[in-house]
Formats: sequence, C-alpha cells, structure tokens
Amino acid sequence: MLYPGLPLILTTDNPLYRGTLDSKVVAVEDSKLVITAPLQNGKLTLLPVGAILQVRPAGSTEQHGFRAEILTRTFQPQRTLTVTMPHTISRGGRSPVKFENTTTARVIAITSGKGGVGKTTLSINLGIALSRLGFRVCLIDVDLGTANVEFLLGLNARYNIGHLLNGEMGLKDILVEGPEGLQILPGASGLEKLANLNEWQFTRLVNSFNEIDKLFDLVILDTGAGISSNVTNFLMAADEILLVTNPDPHAVLDAYALIKTISRLRDKLNIKLVVNRVSKPGDEARVKLNLLNTCQAYLNQPIEFLGVIPDSSTVALSIREMTPFILHYPDSAAAGSLINIAQRLTGSAARRPQQEADEQGGLRRFIGELQKLFTASG
Ligand SMILES: Nc1ncnc2c1ncn2[C@@H]1O[C@H](COP(=O)(O)OP(=O)(O)OP(=O)(O)O)[C@@H](O)[C@H]1O
Ligand SMILES: [Mg+2]
Repeated sequence: MLYPGLPLILTTDNPLYRGTLDSKVVAVEDSKLVITAPLQNGKLTLLPVGAILQVRPAGSTEQHGFRAEILTRTFQPQRTLTVTMPHTISRGGRSPVKFENTTTARVIAITSGKGGVGKTTLSINLGIALSRLGFRVCLIDVDLGTANVEFLLGLNARYNIGHLLNGEMGLKDILVEGPEGLQILPGASGLEKLANLNEWQFTRLVNSFNEIDKLFDLVILDTGAGISSNVTNFLMAADEILLVTNPDPHAVLDAYALIKTISRLRDKLNIKLVVNRVSKPGDEARVKLNLLNTCQAYLNQPIEFLGVIPDSSTVALSIREMTPFILHYPDSAAAGSLINIAQRLTGSAARRPQQEADEQGGLRRFIGELQKLFTASG
C-alpha cells in the first residue's frame, strides 16, 4: 500500500548513483506516484526524466518493490519527482488505454501453417500499431528455433529469454523497449523445445509471466510455423490465435491442416485470420472460400476474418532496412491495412467464451494452460 508520507528506498540504473537513495511518497494518483526528490547520504540527487528506479517501502523486502520510470521533475513548491505507478509502463507521457473489464493481459499467438508467410513482420508492425493506439503491448519471441524479432528491429539486446531460463536475469531486466514503447522479450535461437525445460526453468518462466501479467494490455507471441507440439501448445493456451497465410494454395492448405489439428485438440478456439501478400483482386474471396468456409463446414470451427495486407515492395524493403514499414512507410497501403487490422482486433471480443468463466485470466491463465499442455506432451 502506498500512502503520503511513506518512506521509500530506491535504487537506480543511473551509473552516477550507485547504492540506495531515500525518498517519501508525496501523493498517489491513478497512474502516477509523486515522491520527494531522492537523497543519497543526505545529498540531493539529480536523476533525469526517463531514469528507471527500483522502488520499495523502507523496511520491506525487495519482493515488495516495483519498477518505476521518472516522468517529470518539479522544483516548486517542493522538489519532487513524478514516477510511474506499479504495474504501469510509461507510454511516452500518454496514459495507457485499458480494455473494459480486462485487468490482465490478453494473449494473442500469431502463427501460420506454412513458414515464411509474414508472421514476424505482422507481429512487429501490429505490436507498434497497437502501442500507438495506446495499449501497453509486449511482444514475446517464442519462435525457439529461429528467434529474429530483435534482429529485425536492429535492437541488439544484451539479454534474451535464455538468460531468464538459466537464472541469470529477471524478466523485467530482459525486456527491451522497441519503437512507440512496444516492449520486447527477445527470443533465443537454439532453445529447441520448451518441453525440454526442467521444472526449475519452467517455474521460473511461470513466475516471470505472472510478474508481468498486469503490466500489459496485450501480449503478442510470435510463434514458429507448423504443427509441432511446441507451437500448438502455445496456440491452445493463448486467448486467441491470429493465423497468417498468403493466398498461395499451399499456404492455405497448410493453414487448414494446422486448424484441423488444433481444433481436434480443443474446441472453442478463438481464431482470426490475416491474409498477407495479397496481389490480385480475387485473392481475398478465394481464401475466404477455401479456408473460412471449409473450416466452418468440415471442422465446425468459425474463423473471424481480420483483413488483408497487400504484397508490397515497401514491406520487403523495410525488412532489409530493419525498420518496420509502419514507421518507415506510414502512408503506404500496407501500413493502412495494418492499422485497420489493429483497430478491428482491439474492437473485437477479447476472450473465447470458455475463458470468461475462468477466475484467472491473461498470462496467469495462459501459463497454467501451457504447463498442463507441456506436461502432457513432454
Ligand atoms: N506484405 C508483404 N509484401 C511483400 N513481402 C512480404 C510481405 N510480408 C512478408 N514479406 C516477405 O516475406 C519474408 C518472410 O516474412 P517473415 O519473416 O515475417 O515470415 P515468418 O512467417 O515470420 O517466417 P518464419 O516462418 O520463418 O518465422 C520477409 O522477409 C519479407 O521479404
Ligand atoms: Mg518468423
């Protein structure tokens, strides 16, 4: 509980101020906390806006601490700092938008039947579009074979999910900030199977996901392609599946095979479709006919159509330039389609009916499901 007058102990990532700093709560607001300017050994510190603090009430253990970011500094009438509240992440001064009735993160797994159809490109650009809409978004690279989100964003992150699993780092230390405040958990290639994690590693993953559950509105998982249990477990555990295909009949057939497999394993899946690399007028109608209608008729599995992204040289170019097309070519047709997809996605129902009754939602529920699934298939 934070209340005015509560003494606080802070540490910071700012190299000028090693060791602990003292402060006090001045005021507690909705998404912000006002504290007295921190002192170190009785001397005033001059921490800049944007500095990251680890904050805990004096006398409590580090477990009760939280991460905060300095939003503003005030000198009159009192020297104070305004910092982010626990469970919020700064959105460049903008207030985070919340889903109605949703207090936990909504987990969306992006996948495809065939590889190379544009999952990672969509994950990154959609993540940025959703952040721009005001949602707190975390993109997790769970393509454990060929992790490349971080590479495509040119982020050069120091740590990745591997450091989390071997116990070297905590999840919040690994998250890196991408464009528009999008938070990214970089993947690690060569971590072939989550099923191979030992119990200690799995517990670590569970605890870490629980830790960030309330920090985000949306968690996007960029998965690998295909029907290995390593991928399908993520799909079945997620709140919803965003299936990507291109209009090529092979890709559509592989998408159908994937839906067939997972819909047999679990009913009431919430699946949405994006058709990428559309180049001909009949493409959209053909995929709808061959995939949506067939899934409904033969698998009794409805699929919501979210939209198309045109086949565009700007997309390919932006990948080569390692800059997401939504940022580099904001006026392109591809960027326009993506914004429509982001709006449709966030305007639509958040969870599949089965989950509405669940007491636990979001990442907490997701990881519980994942645990059951990997235990069963591992
Ligand atoms: N809309 C588009 N227009 C043109 N080219 C595109 C488009 N979307 C994706 N591509 C091309 O497809 C390639 C593969 O995209 P991406 O890496 O996003 O696919 P993926 O599904 O994540 O692949 P993997 O299955 O290997 O993870 C990109 O390098 C890009 O050149
Ligand atoms: Mg990929």
